[in-house]
Amino acid sequence: SSYQVIILAAGQGKRMKAGQNKQFLSINGKPLLIHTIEAFTQDDLSCEQRIVVINPNERTQIESLLERFGYLSQITLIDGGEERQDSVYAGLQAINGDSIVLIHDGARPFVKRESIRELVKEAGEHGAALLAVPVTDTIKQYQAGSLKTLKRDELYAAQTPQAFRYELILSAHEQAKEEHYLGTDDASLVERLGQNVEVVQGSYDNIKLTTPEDIEKAETIINNRSAGLEA
Ligand code: CTP
Ligand code: MG
Repeated sequence: SSYQVIILAAGQGKRMKAGQNKQFLSINGKPLLIHTIEAFTQDDLSCEQRIVVINPNERTQIESLLERFGYLSQITLIDGGEERQDSVYAGLQAINGDSIVLIHDGARPFVKRESIRELVKEAGEHGAALLAVPVTDTIKQYQAGSLKTLKRDELYAAQTPQAFRYELILSAHEQAKEEHYLGTDDASLVERLGQNVEVVQGSYDNIKLTTPEDIEKAETIINNRSAGLEA
């Protein structure tokens, strides 16, 4: 089965405090964005189209990066927007035909081939699926001065990729846009239509690089992998 992927790279990376978009950060000698793209160029499924959503001001820089690593001809570059959700919407406009669409954070380089395969299969069968891991911390809800303890065995931390039938995710985004609803992920836009989203168990390694401490974590994950140690 085949799919198309939207990789989001149009953010500013403010929390990384690197003075530039974190996608350009070097992780073990290779830019973060290239690590992420490689998760979708070396898989054995057929990835029909790879869309990378970028900040238009960084187009030249990203083009030369892709050129340098030999991926320019395999990537469709699309200009993103103010919010992550706007960038996804822009990416969705470039999808061809009826397909399974994976939406993925450019800052999440460690997604595994088997997770991609599983997501494509589940979204094909059920319409929508996301990667998630059980939370390990006890999560408290603090609202209007009152503290509640949520049931840990019912809680999952959502990751990307999130996978959808194209028609479903496009209409979920169109409806959210119409109603000025801003979600924190794409699955939430589908959930609010009353549609079920399947959970595919992810890996705790599938981190999003968000703060400076995550760079060291990422290098440890890469070193463990090349040593054949999987966390
Ligand atoms: N993203 C995007 N368009 C936006 C905002 C975010 O494509 N308008 C992308 C980022 O490039 C990132 C992913 O969405 O790969 C997840 O967002 P996040 O981790 O929040 O990245 P940034 O928004 O870049 O970081 P920050 O919030 O710290 O500024
Ligand atoms: Mg952000």
